[in-house]
Amino acid sequence: MAGKVWRSTVLQALRALKNEILQSRSFMKTVCLIPGDGIGPEISTAVMKIFETAKAPIKWEEINVTPLQGPGGRWVIPQEAKESMHKNKIGLKGPLKTPIGTDHPCMNLLLGKTFGLYANVRPCVSIEGYKTAYTDVNLVTIRENTEGKYSGIEHVIVDGVVQSIKLITEQASQRIAEFAFEYAKSNQRSSVTAVHKANIMRMSDGLFLRKCREAAEKHRDIKFTEMFLDTVCLHMVQDPTQFDVLVMPNLYGDILSDLCAGLIGGLAVTPSGNIGAEGVAIFESVHGTAPDIAGKDLANPTALLLSAVMMLRHMALHGHANKIETACFDTIRDKKVLTKDLGGNSKCSEFTEAICQKVQDMD
Ligand code: NAI
Repeated sequence: MAGKVWRSTVLQALRALKNEILQSRSFMKTVCLIPGDGIGPEISTAVMKIFETAKAPIKWEEINVTPLQGPGGRWVIPQEAKESMHKNKIGLKGPLKTPIGTDHPCMNLLLGKTFGLYANVRPCVSIEGYKTAYTDVNLVTIRENTEGKYSGIEHVIVDGVVQSIKLITEQASQRIAEFAFEYAKSNQRSSVTAVHKANIMRMSDGLFLRKCREAAEKHRDIKFTEMFLDTVCLHMVQDPTQFDVLVMPNLYGDILSDLCAGLIGGLAVTPSGNIGAEGVAIFESVHGTAPDIAGKDLANPTALLLSAVMMLRHMALHGHANKIETACFDTIRDKKVLTKDLGGNSKCSEFTEAICQKVQDMD
C-alpha cells in the first residue's frame, strides 16, 4: 500500500514537472517593437492584431530608438532601447524617417551598427493572384550590411574634391559569405551567386569574391556561381527565375534588393530581416513612412506582416508563421478586400480584418 502511494506521488510530481517544462516551452516571447513614423503605427497595429488573432506567443515591448547626441556630437540609440534589444534579442521595426539636410544619422545604418546586424536578408517571392510582370520569382538577396560604400568614411581632400572610401574587410566578407551558404542550406535553396565588380575593383571586390569562393569550397552541396553586378541586373529583368540566393557587398545590395522587390510588386509587399550574431535580429518593412497617406487608414501592412512572419521563423515558431502567411496570401488571392496599392478600395483596417477572419477560419 505504502509503495502504491509513493508511486502515485512520484507520478504526480513527474506530471507537474512535465507540465512546467511544456509551459516554459510555450511561454510568451518578448519582442522589441519599433512602430516607426508616418504609416508605421497603423501597420504595426495591424500586425499586432493579426498576431493576437493567431495566438502567436509574442509579447511586444515598445521601444523608442530616436537617437540622442552623445559626447563629441556622436549620435547614439537611447540606453533604454539598447538594453531592451540586448535582453530580448529580437525586434520588429516599422519605417523611420530620416530628416534631410541635418546631420541626423540614417536610422537603419545606426541600428545596424549598434546591434551588429551584419546580414540584410530579403526574400522576393511572387505572390499568387497579385499580377506583376513575372509570376514565378523566388529568390533571396543577402546584403553585407556593415561596410563597403556605406562605411561612412568621407572627407574633403581639397576644395571641390571629395573622397568616399569603400571599406572591404576579410572578416566581414567571410562572415557574409558563410551566412549566405548556411542560409541556403537551412532554407532548402540550392545555389548561391556572388555579385561583384572584381573586374574593376580588383582589390576590394576581389577580396569579397575570394571569401565567397572559399565559402563555396566548404559547402560543395550548394551550387556556386559568380556574376558581375551589371550582368545580374540584365539577367534579373530578363529572367529572374534563374536566381536563387544572391550575396553581395552593401551598396550593390541596397540597389539590387529594391530592383528585386519591384519584380514581385514593390516595397509594400516585400519582407526583410537584419541578422546579427547570437540570434540578434531586427525584421522590418523596407518601404518608407509614406507621409502622403499617413494617418488615413490607407497603408498596406503586408510588408511588415511578412517581415513579422520571417521573425517567427527565425524564432522557430513555424506553425504560427505558416498560418499568418497563408491567411495573408489567401486574402490577396481572393481579391475581395485589398488596399489601394494592391488594386483594391479597402482600408488598412478592413484588409487587416480580412486576414484575421482567414486566421480564424483555419482554427
Ligand atoms: P515611401 O516608401 O515612404 O513612399 C513612396 C510611395 O510608396 C508613396 O506614394 C507611398 O504612399 C507608397 N507606400 C510606401 N509604403 C506603402 C505601404 N505600406 N502601403 C501603401 N503605400 C505605400 O518613400 P519616400 O516618400 O521616399 O520616403 C518617405 C520617408 O520614409 C523619408 O523620410 C525616408 O527617409 C523614409 N524611409 C524610411 C525607410 C525605412 O525606415 N526603412 C526606407 C525608405 C524611406
